[in-house]
Amino acid sequence: MAANKRLLILPGDGIGPEVMREVRRIIDWMDRRRMVTFDVSDDLVGGAAIDARKTPIADSTMQAAKDADAILFGSVGGPKWDTLGFDLRPELAILRLRKELDIFANLRPAIVFDPLVNASTLKADVIKGLDLMIVRESTGGIYFGEPRGVETLPDGQKRGFDTETYTTNEIERVARVAFELARKRQNRLCSVEKANVMQSGLFWRQTVTALREREFPDVELSHMYADNCAMQLVRAPKQFDVIVTSNIFGDLLSDLASMLTGSLGMLPSATMGAVQASGKRHALYEPIHGSAPDIAGKGIANPLAQILSFAMLLRFSFSMDEDAALIEKACVNVLGTGLRTADIMGPGTARISTNVMGEAIVRELDKLAA
Ligand code: IPM
Ligand code: MG
Repeated sequence: MAANKRLLILPGDGIGPEVMREVRRIIDWMDRRRMVTFDVSDDLVGGAAIDARKTPIADSTMQAAKDADAILFGSVGGPKWDTLGFDLRPELAILRLRKELDIFANLRPAIVFDPLVNASTLKADVIKGLDLMIVRESTGGIYFGEPRGVETLPDGQKRGFDTETYTTNEIERVARVAFELARKRQNRLCSVEKANVMQSGLFWRQTVTALREREFPDVELSHMYADNCAMQLVRAPKQFDVIVTSNIFGDLLSDLASMLTGSLGMLPSATMGAVQASGKRHALYEPIHGSAPDIAGKGIANPLAQILSFAMLLRFSFSMDEDAALIEKACVNVLGTGLRTADIMGPGTARISTNVMGEAIVRELDKLAA
């Protein structure tokens, strides 16, 4: 295979660098065993970049991200940087990447692997076999809407405000991604908003409905209020196939969905832009867990979400479906042997560290590829 796959790795803060190290192990393995050579570069983002360069993401890093064929992101943030002003938060790194690369469709799958049915806080029969996909809009809504700020009122009080806004195009392009995904799955899409209280929510609902009539009449479409969706995800998550929702609701619902799978430490994600005229499509892959500063540096973080994010990268950005499936299988098999990081421990399982999990997966890859 050609050696020109440009991969930019941005480990970030907290557990980011620790779990990313385990992905590097897999990249090295692929180098040796699958004869796929990536052109890998890495750079600082988040708090690490603030410390070194006084900015959450340098312009040169943004340029490298634009030039890369795919970006593997870790996580950013931590108490060390919590007191910085709003314009100098580590989180701005990921927000700027999403916005400037215009990667608007954030795909967050929640899949329950059989060996982990007992790791969830929910009853096994509620989640066994679960496979749902949340498509979260990621460049619009209240995350970026103007006006935003804090102002002083005539009576001396202050008033903080943010704005939820969505245009027709912003809704249609993310809904299109979701409809197309549904077609490849169970052909069911649930669109989630608060059409009962938000103007932008009602507009979202109407826009998705009209798009279906025009372009996707074959896909079954339902609508749900976001609060009800949160409840339904815990009550009966298997009713869902694909969910499409706004930036903020997607943020909340995907954290919720992650716990159906046993741990926040299990969920990968992919954030995709539109296919450009050149055929190139910007894409960034990241676990949905944060930097987890409370457990950083202890060697106990679960590297699976980062590793599964890399598998998504192989599949979506490089069409390396076979290699992606191999890595996913290795993860499931290792879980099947009862090896667990602390977050997914269950009765009769053995607790291992971040790097022992990485080693176990590489050993399993060796076996699978033999
Ligand atoms: C996520 C994270 C980010 C978000 C933070 C780190 C800005 O929670 O990717 O879900 O809110 O989008
Ligand atoms: Mg989040």
